[in-house]
Amino acid sequence: MTVFKLAVVSAGLSKPSSTRLLADRLAESTVRQLALQGREVEVTVVELRDLAGDIANNFVTGFPAAALRGAIEAVTDADALIAVTPIFTASYSGLFKSFFDVIDQDALTGKPVLIAATGGTPRHSLALEHAVRPLFSYLRAVVLPTAVYAATDDWGAAGDGHTDGLPRRIDRAAGELAALLAGRTPAEPSLPEQVVPFAEQLAALRV
Ligand SMILES: Cc1cc2nc3c(=O)[nH]c(=O)nc-3n(C[C@H](O)[C@H](O)[C@H](O)COP(=O)(O)O)c2cc1C
Repeated sequence: MTVFKLAVVSAGLSKPSSTRLLADRLAESTVRQLALQGREVEVTVVELRDLAGDIANNFVTGFPAAALRGAIEAVTDADALIAVTPIFTASYSGLFKSFFDVIDQDALTGKPVLIAATGGTPRHSLALEHAVRPLFSYLRAVVLPTAVYAATDDWGAAGDGHTDGLPRRIDRAAGELAALLAGRTPAEPSLPEQVVPFAEQLAALRV
């Protein structure tokens, strides 16, 4: 059976990071709900914190360093994406936006994307709707209806079991992603880029 590839992008800066924790919870729930339907998932986590220098350099040089290239390929080759940003100044973080700025603008077309964010205050939950959702809509991704926001107060026992607590919101969003993926066929592995040796290119020119 072909395995779905799920890319998870976390733009958290702290260690430990609540953004990464939310990303992991969403991925676990998606894997669990797809497993119930007999589908397997391979998860690749991209921590943008580790790529901050490479992303900045990409803007200056126009080329991604090896680690950043690997991260971009993990995202563009995936069948689906979970994208989680901390809210900075009422919007996505600059690092989160910069990563999607260095990816080809057509690379996410048609890709299911589950969006999520963490923040200090519950009052900024709509940043997902006025900033993050339009970003992925512009990239022509298929953004899932439920976006998950976790404020500091959402973590811990208070939300557990509540009809609209964080665990329920995570399962609802992951359930939407699992349902969408279950109806799709996993993408074929992309062929490695054919590199034509320089001598061969020269020989081809000598007609
Ligand atoms: C520069 C900066 C700006 C922030 N702005 C906001 C904000 O506007 N709204 C909000 O709810 N939280 C804001 N926060 C808090 C972070 O969103 C929150 O701490 C986040 O969950 C941290 O994620 P991490 O633990 O993954 O690093 C800000 C934090 C920083 C460092």
